Amino acid sequence: MKVVLASRNNHKIVEMQGLLSKLCGEDITVLSLDDIGFTGDIEENGTTFAENALIKCRAPKCDLPVIADDSGLMVDVLDGEPGVYSARYAVDHAGDELGDHANNEKLLAKLEGYRPEEKTSRFVSAVACVFPDGRHIVCEGKCEGMILTEYRGTGGFGYDPLFYVPQIGKTFAEMTQEEKNSVSHRANAMKLFAAEFKKAINEN
Ligand code: IMP
Repeated sequence: MKVVLASRNNHKIVEMQGLLSKLCGEDITVLSLDDIGFTGDIEENGTTFAENALIKCRAPKCDLPVIADDSGLMVDVLDGEPGVYSARYAVDHAGDELGDHANNEKLLAKLEGYRPEEKTSRFVSAVACVFPDGRHIVCEGKCEGMILTEYRGTGGFGYDPLFYVPQIGKTFAEMTQEEKNSVSHRANAMKLFAAEFKKAINEN
């Protein structure tokens, strides 16, 4: 069967194709927004990861199931910041994103003065699918961790070097891909999602 992933990121398309085929035991072809000729921009103006994932699913309006994900970091003492603004936490005067390093520096500045044990946080990932008949599913995965005061590790992206996972004893940036996949918010969301998705397509 064919599904659309509301993304133009080729890496995500290939990853989703492999995960869905493996976890659902079906032959699934994942198409990108480019493959279905959707050229518009999607405004992610939801207040939760789940809302944003559903907004992305509903944007292309096509007659195939559309899947999308949205994720980010939530820090308890910052009332859940950066949250849905994780990618665009640090911006310039024109509102343009300043990127991963500036985001991390902003987070470190905001957390100055807090004791290590106060800096509890979690990554959250929401994966959603909207079917042509309007039904939808949304699944959320989490990974609990602490924000450090210094960068550790060189792998990964985003907030990885500041996010320490006690369960593994490493930051995301110090983990191998396999270690990250064993605990990550995205992997946890995908496991739940694949089970729900399989159920939904078998109901048809
Ligand atoms: P997206 O919704 O998956 O594109 O993620 C939005 C933003 O959340 C990214 O630009 C990162 O800043 C942050 N983020 C999400 N997942 C991760 C992760 O696994 N490691 C580090 N940062 C992440």
